[in-house]
Amino acid sequence: MTFTAKPTDGPVWITGASEGIGAHLAREFSKEGFTVYVSARTTEKLEALSAENNGSGKIVPLTLDVTDRDKAAEAVALMEKEAGPPAAVVLNAGTFKPQRAGEITFDALDLVRDVNVGGVLNCLLPAIDAMKRSEKGQIAVVASCAGYGGLPNNASYGLTKAGLINMCESMKFDLDRMGIKIQVVTPGFVDTPLTEKNEFPMPFLIEGEEAARRIYDGMRSDGFEITFPKRLTYILKFINLLPYPLYFWATKMATKGG
Ligand SMILES: NC(=O)c1ccc[n+]([C@@H]2O[C@H](COP(=O)([O-])OP(=O)(O)OC[C@H]3O[C@@H](n4cnc5c(N)ncnc54)[C@H](OP(=O)(O)O)[C@@H]3O)[C@@H](O)[C@H]2O)c1
Repeated sequence: MTFTAKPTDGPVWITGASEGIGAHLAREFSKEGFTVYVSARTTEKLEALSAENNGSGKIVPLTLDVTDRDKAAEAVALMEKEAGPPAAVVLNAGTFKPQRAGEITFDALDLVRDVNVGGVLNCLLPAIDAMKRSEKGQIAVVASCAGYGGLPNNASYGLTKAGLINMCESMKFDLDRMGIKIQVVTPGFVDTPLTEKNEFPMPFLIEGEEAARRIYDGMRSDGFEITFPKRLTYILKFINLLPYPLYFWATKMATKGG
């Protein structure tokens, strides 16, 4: 049996929770009675979220830029001091910049990599240390189905999300032995501030509330991957099983020429 957090086991920590999927997920956990520490850079939005009345739990703002390694470790230490070691951590902070080969800039690449990969690791490693001390915990890393295989206009984002999926697979072998559950979240398109700026069609777009409910339910299961909506992500999984000529043909067709 793998570990599934209850409100009495300790706090939940969600990064990237000032808006979008992370904020909806904080509401879900709070509604179910958890104490939820919410991190992002924008303190006012975290405070507004905390001021909402969300069932029997509570939402505690913990301002953090996840790219700051020392501050991430301090955030875990503070949470541990105030509420105990985190029982569940959702590493959700992420950013997206469409980038075509030939137009990729180092600045844009660094930003996406620093937040999506560096930011996850900066929070993940101290969280694992805290969970090792308490000998329990669960971790969900928010990647994307865009990490399954290369998609047009997606080189820098795709490399970060593919890397997260691989990293979670790798860590699962060791974390299982330590009684810590790790899961990877691979959403399709979700209506959030991140996707509002997309000018391309987003098939099977779902609401942020629905995405949060899927993640919450998935975290209560033992499955390694939490993926939704399956009508999109399973098609992508299938396309990724095809030999490359067919993969590129099908992806080009599906994205109207790439
Ligand atoms: N929306 C989708 O269709 C979709 C699909 C697949 C995967 N995802 C993934 O799901 C996660 C959440 O996406 P979303 O759509 O909810 O995005 P969003 O609406 O843009 O929200 C992103 C959150 O991350 C925070 N954030 C950004 N940079 C940060 C930093 N350096 N330090 C701390 N927090 C930071 C933002 O808050 P501040 O600006 O206040 O810091 C915000 O709370 C991301 O990892 C994204 O890649 C989203």
